[in-house]
Amino acid sequence: MTANDFIPKPYSNQVANGKVTWESPSNIALVKYWGKKKNQIPENPSISFTLNNCKTITTLTYTAKDNHDDFEFEVFLDGKQKEDFKPKIATFFQRVESYLPFLKRFQFKIETSNTFPHSSGIASSASGMSALALCLMSIERELNPEISEEEFKAKASFLARLGSGSACRSIEGDLIVWGENETVEGSTDLFGVKYPYTVHDNFKEYQDTILLVDRGEKQVSSTVGHNLMHGHPFAAQRFEQAHENLAKLKPILEVGDLKQFIALIESEALTLHAMMMTSMPYFILMKPNTLEIIQKIWAFREKTGLHIGFTLDAGANVHVLYPKAEATHILEFIKDELVGYCQNEQYICDQIGFGAKLIDN
Ligand code: DP6
Repeated sequence: MTANDFIPKPYSNQVANGKVTWESPSNIALVKYWGKKKNQIPENPSISFTLNNCKTITTLTYTAKDNHDDFEFEVFLDGKQKEDFKPKIATFFQRVESYLPFLKRFQFKIETSNTFPHSSGIASSASGMSALALCLMSIERELNPEISEEEFKAKASFLARLGSGSACRSIEGDLIVWGENETVEGSTDLFGVKYPYTVHDNFKEYQDTILLVDRGEKQVSSTVGHNLMHGHPFAAQRFEQAHENLAKLKPILEVGDLKQFIALIESEALTLHAMMMTSMPYFILMKPNTLEIIQKIWAFREKTGLHIGFTLDAGANVHVLYPKAEATHILEFIKDELVGYCQNEQYICDQIGFGAKLIDN
């Protein structure tokens, strides 16, 4: 399959106007995507848990217009016009135009809101871009009702990827793989696919409590971050390691080996940050409280033998991951000992989820 397969044949239907709403979740990578080539192609494969509670809800209103010269859209976040969101969406429209040739034929109103606090440091690009891609796919489905469910999801993920790489892993759940690799049959650089192998019950309803250590603006944008991998002295080894970690994860997921699981995801998180610390220019995205939390998690795990682990995004927040069966004890520990390190004691309880939902059409 190539990107050209997503260029549609001439549409069979005509559409004048309408409105559609999708909600789409965020996701948290276990094996990290860090480094990309042209056209949002990842340098290495990644795998993520889709989340359940951290979501973006987007309503797209579309009205046919006479002139087809340019994109016309307005963006609202929580009911307020957001001029500063427009450049990213304009870039997205340009990137996907050949796959959605109707884009210049409509005037769009994009109304969006998140279930998590804005600028909490939680990536809203994954949930936001996937929700928008799905709304656009709903228009395409009106223009071409023949499209199958499978094609719909694959193309939504393909489009979301062109908005933000990790967004391609938010269309479905509960474990999504993106990036061609030998471990996962059917994996591709073009879009996210459902992890197709056995996953042990230990990972059912796996918990993710997100500790909001730093709600400030991102120090390093994802574009700048990924670019740091160009010419990075350890890039080749890192990309190779991601393939190896994905291969190692397969038996871990199958037999439910939580110890090995934790070792692998924590190593992935620290490697991501090590890549940032060893690039030029270099960055430290962890904060002192990120390290305090990590130390506490390790001490608590040592003391209790409970299966608590962490992962990190490209920021200071900590995702605390643990099995549902141990949730009572671990959540108590989080509230008693970790929440104090969060900004304004803010944290979000989430768990593994099953992907985006159409709310209204
Ligand atoms: C550290 O998907 O935000 O969260 O493709 O430039 O939009 P762009 O990058 P983005 O990068 C996410 C990086 C990460 C790891 C991951 O989610 O795999």
